Amino acid sequence: MSDDVLYTEQKQYVGLLKNMITPHFGHTPKACIITYGCQQNVSDSERIRGILDDIGFEFTEDKASADFIIFNTCAVREHAQDRVFGNVGALKNLKRKNPNLIVALCGCMAQQESVKERIKNSFSFVDLLFGTFALYRLPQNIYKLLKDNHRVFDIDDSISDIPEGVPAKRDGTFKGWLPIMYGCNNFCTYCIVPYVRGRERSRSVERIVDDAKKLIADGCKDITLLGQNVNSYNYNGTDFPDLLKIINDLEGDFVLRFMTSHPKDCSDKLICAVRDCQKVAKHIHLPFQSGSTKILKAMNRRYTKEQYLSLIKKAYDTIPGLTVTSDIIVGFPGETYEDFLETIDVVKKVKFLSLFTFIFSPRPGTPAAEMDDPVDKETKGERFTQLLKVQSEISDNFNKTLIGKKFRVLCDESGRKEGYMAGHTSSNICLEFKGDTSLLGKFLNVEVIQTDNDISAIILEEQ
Ligand code: SAH
Ligand code: SF4
Ligand code: F3S
Repeated sequence: MSDDVLYTEQKQYVGLLKNMITPHFGHTPKACIITYGCQQNVSDSERIRGILDDIGFEFTEDKASADFIIFNTCAVREHAQDRVFGNVGALKNLKRKNPNLIVALCGCMAQQESVKERIKNSFSFVDLLFGTFALYRLPQNIYKLLKDNHRVFDIDDSISDIPEGVPAKRDGTFKGWLPIMYGCNNFCTYCIVPYVRGRERSRSVERIVDDAKKLIADGCKDITLLGQNVNSYNYNGTDFPDLLKIINDLEGDFVLRFMTSHPKDCSDKLICAVRDCQKVAKHIHLPFQSGSTKILKAMNRRYTKEQYLSLIKKAYDTIPGLTVTSDIIVGFPGETYEDFLETIDVVKKVKFLSLFTFIFSPRPGTPAAEMDDPVDKETKGERFTQLLKVQSEISDNFNKTLIGKKFRVLCDESGRKEGYMAGHTSSNICLEFKGDTSLLGKFLNVEVIQTDNDISAIILEEQ
């Protein structure tokens, strides 16, 4: 297919590198990939692993025995970036001991000119830096680095076509990530993502279906469709609810999830599709960010508090057993205590299953970073704690209502308690039950018996 061309061009470099790397390192080299940020990055790291595997790298999680260490980074909050600078800085000694070691930085943080300059000037032991647009050019960039023996920086964003055909190497688990689109057009005033991921591009239905089939054949039981705003997916007239139906109809027993939905584009058609598609999880992650319409306007979210609440009501009324989770930013510039109480009000009214809460972090280059922000850190911290407390009570009360209820869960991880495993319901409730790793990847029918510290259940039936 024609859009394979970008990666096809890279294959000549894969071929050259196959013959170069073992002589270069003196042995079969090992790569260590460290991933920060959202599932989009996890999915990108699967592609990085796929490319490196093609070239002939082996893999390790131990930095000290690696020949190639790559940080796939996130820029969404300052803290995320600081952590990366700290962890990259800590490699200086490893590099001194092993001058052959290649250190690379990629992902959203690397896409920023300011980060490129800082790495160039102050982190001389970083050999390779490339942004989100250049991921598919990894073979060419490693080749350049080894051949010319000088540092490579590639944050060129002029080719924004989706490079299809890049091989992905998954962790081999039964959870799969499936990007359906890249980029974001929304420009929420606090957010760096549109600057580092570019404009929205939707993948073809055919490609997505093909990937979904591969995941299912590969034993995936839980597939998450990924995009910054999946609701604006559109490929030649196929919209997101249409796509959900198409994947739902594929053969196989799996749960189909998606993230993230933007409230402004969450249509009746989508709500009905979630209700009607049997395999689609009865859970929506619908970030509202703030309960104050004034702050929502300043954030450029393009909905009001009332619109959000009526959307949630419609979703609850339409989809039996639905749970909702959300993201909230506390302390956006200009947020008064009254504005914050509006956020608390939404939290109390909606009764979210869980929340991802963040204190506003100014991102250089975004409009919100320039806004007047008179509220001090301490006050923001207090609001944050108050919010967590409110949500924690809601979660406790919700959990109590689960006693005696029966669910179908996919066993997907070890439990926190010794001798226990954990699983998620379609509505994304996490339950623990006695068992061992032989249950991993299996669907189980369980009944909730206790909800003190975690939600414990007994297994009624293995499927
Ligand atoms: N596309 C998704 C969000 C991706 S970023 C959406 O629109 O819902 C994930 C979350 O990080 C956001 O929902 C927001 O709550 C938070 N976030 C983004 N930028 C932030 C910033 N500058 N400071 C604090 N939190 C931020
Ligand atoms: Fe960021 Fe807003 Fe786009 Fe989400 S929708 S990625 S918060 S700009
Ligand atoms: Fe972070 Fe980039 Fe995701 S900024 S949240 S890794 S899209």
